[in-house]
Amino acid sequence: MTAVATDLASQRCIESGCGAQYGLNEQLYVCPRCSGLLEIETNAIADADALRSLWQSRLASPDQKDRSGVWRYRELLPFSDDAPIVSLAEGNTPLYDAQRAARYCRLSRLKLKHQGCNPTGSFKDTGMTTAVTQARILGARTVVCASTGNTAASLAAYAARAELKCAIFVPRGQVSQAKLAQSLDYGGAVLEIDGNFDDVMRVIRELAEDESIYLVNSINPFRIEGQKTVAAELLQQCAWQVPDHVVVPGGNLGNSAAFGKGFKELFELGVIDCLPRLHVVQADGAAPFAELFARREQESVEDSSPTLTPIKHPKTLATAIKIGVPVSWKKALRAVTQTGGRVLSVSEQEIADGKAIIGREGIGCEPASATTVAGIKRLVKDGVIDPDENVVAVLTGHLLKDTDYTTDYHQNKLYTQDRTSSRSKEERRIAGTFSNPPARVRATRAGILEHLKSLESHQVEDRSFD
Ligand code: F0G
Repeated sequence: MTAVATDLASQRCIESGCGAQYGLNEQLYVCPRCSGLLEIETNAIADADALRSLWQSRLASPDQKDRSGVWRYRELLPFSDDAPIVSLAEGNTPLYDAQRAARYCRLSRLKLKHQGCNPTGSFKDTGMTTAVTQARILGARTVVCASTGNTAASLAAYAARAELKCAIFVPRGQVSQAKLAQSLDYGGAVLEIDGNFDDVMRVIRELAEDESIYLVNSINPFRIEGQKTVAAELLQQCAWQVPDHVVVPGGNLGNSAAFGKGFKELFELGVIDCLPRLHVVQADGAAPFAELFARREQESVEDSSPTLTPIKHPKTLATAIKIGVPVSWKKALRAVTQTGGRVLSVSEQEIADGKAIIGREGIGCEPASATTVAGIKRLVKDGVIDPDENVVAVLTGHLLKDTDYTTDYHQNKLYTQDRTSSRSKEERRIAGTFSNPPARVRATRAGILEHLKSLESHQVEDRSFD
């Protein structure tokens, strides 16, 4: 079955006043006519029952394409059957029940979709497999990206698989060591740029005007195509019972856009009968999208030409989402609006505590991912989410992506970096509400037993969930 006839698929400008259409093999990132964002338009037609049973049968298939949690859903993708696929068996990430995190949020139940279990430890792999495959189709020599670390690690890995030259651009001193280590090990050329992510993004967009260079940031619509398949994988894991709410962190907003596109296409195909509400959570110090959403609500008018006010100096310890000018905000706004979702931001303390609770589930994630649990707690408190509804939080990155943050939190040594403010170091400390510091114990049997006896007090008690 081929749902997407690739000869009918195209790249289309999302701007309502433009809507220009371009061929799949034109190397574009924005609309040449109006500079609007592009997206793949597929006009997919297929029988929903047949699709669901085909995707189910592939779970037991040894075929390499079927082993990938992205290419398993290839009927949704704008590639022909003989496309030169570059894959690391991405996707296939677990959906966990999280009882303690549910109690923390005051919910009856909560599920965590752990995209950090992808091959390079973040959700980026699901989009990188399609973007680097497209790079191969276009005959690109050099693939590049700007990154807060995860896109970089993912691109370096997929470029290595495809034997493509790869250059990644990161804001100097603002990327975790683990992410940097991955990019170096996979053989990517790492260019550290003075400035923040938004500066790097600006430079790289200028660079991509050169045709020999293929840009694979999420502005590239082929990235979004791979990333949207997580919607299908998640819903299949829910036996096609649509959750009431799906909550994602927001940085450059490609992920939010991709979830929105995935849900919408599955709905239009009849694979699901309603849409989950898609909520996006940012960090307080890097929340231009939440600010835009709040402004629109306050004005309570459906402004047809909303504008995002950039944050010049975004600040958050969740470095993955330290972004002041998110590229895909228009797509994300459309997704949130179409599904009746909300956009909010949470504090550094809420992120840190949410992350510790996810850790206590035996699951763990990187700081940016924990905005979800922090955001859900807030949405329940505000009455947006009913305690008995079905909620999925999307964890985007693995715990081991940023271990300094975690060990600092557990040793009460985590500080916000707002050094320019008049706040003292103590005032900048993030409280280790659920901290679990290592203990120094004498190397004697008695000393160790004594320590083990005292351990009960280390358990996180639900009553501490205020
Ligand atoms: N979570 C993690 C772990 C991320 O790495 C990112 C983005 C996000 C959430 C936000 O996703 O940008 O699609 O809204 N990281 C990018 C990078 C910016 O370069 O790795 P988004």
